[in-house]
Amino acid sequence: MILVTGATGNVGRALVDRLLAADRPVRALTRDPQRAALPDGVEVTRLHPDESAFAGATKLFLYVQATDPDLLAAARRAGVRHVVLLSAGYVKEDADDNNPLRIMHDNAERAIRDSGLEWTFLRPHAFALNALQWADQIHTGDTVRGVFADAMSAPIHEDDIAAVAQHALLDVGHEGAAHILTGPAATSNADQITAIGRALGRDLTYVEVPPEQAATELFPHLPPHLLQFLLKSWAATVGTAPEITDTVEKITGTPARTFEQWAQDHAEHLRG
Ligand SMILES: NC(=O)c1ccc[n+]([C@@H]2O[C@H](COP(=O)([O-])OP(=O)(O)OC[C@H]3O[C@@H](n4cnc5c(N)ncnc54)[C@H](OP(=O)(O)O)[C@@H]3O)[C@@H](O)[C@H]2O)c1
Repeated sequence: MILVTGATGNVGRALVDRLLAADRPVRALTRDPQRAALPDGVEVTRLHPDESAFAGATKLFLYVQATDPDLLAAARRAGVRHVVLLSAGYVKEDADDNNPLRIMHDNAERAIRDSGLEWTFLRPHAFALNALQWADQIHTGDTVRGVFADAMSAPIHEDDIAAVAQHALLDVGHEGAAHILTGPAATSNADQITAIGRALGRDLTYVEVPPEQAATELFPHLPPHLLQFLLKSWAATVGTAPEITDTVEKITGTPARTFEQWAQDHAEHLRG
């Protein structure tokens, strides 16, 4: 039995589909089983730091949001041996910044290292899914307003992360590894909008908004201190080549999908 937290999320749901296709028994751990809407064949259990939630399982796929020492201790007592964590590429052993997202992922990795369980950390850089932040604008027009047109990343398809997670859970030899995951090529924000336009058969244009306007116009829902860190980290990527790894291909045998492929896969959603 393989336990999956975040099974209602993008990566977790793709992982569940893959495990079911591979005929592996899956139990989803969710905060709200009534709303999970998972495929037939998935056992759905409330996420709770209680041994009964983990009974009969040896492997656990974990989101940082679900990582807590009590839960890890209960999992270990119940017989879980190996945790695969969806962490993030900005975790660095020697980092000394105050980036709240890095600290959250660092803390989750530390709790797992301290738990006595075997672990594998998946450290993806930017998700291609982040482009959905522009979906509402794409639904209503051909101009997309956003910060830093030339910010560079190598966005990764969520199903490529799920494919690596599947291998980390089912194959031997991933214990103690931290896999840095990226898409296959660097693109700018403006390039991503052009690629989405091509997938939709439309001519889309990215219009750069000054960072000072971001809080009011683009991200009113983000806490100001978090937005400041995000703006600073995005600014640092302008014109800078992002880290690109071939880890997806090494582990899965299939090259990581391009942003163009991601845009085609999500064309229906982006079309609105
Ligand atoms: N976006 C990026 O560029 C990026 C880059 C690197 C790493 N990441 C990592 O990837 C994650 C996002 O992945 P995603 O897109 O698949 O996520 P998502 O679609 O937003 O889903 C989040 C999942 O986490 C679970 N969850 C949320 N809060 C929780 C809590 N307090 N306790 C327990 N479970 C909780 C939810 O499960 P239930 O509601 O069913 O309980 C949900 O299924 C980020 O949080 C980050 O850790 C993202």
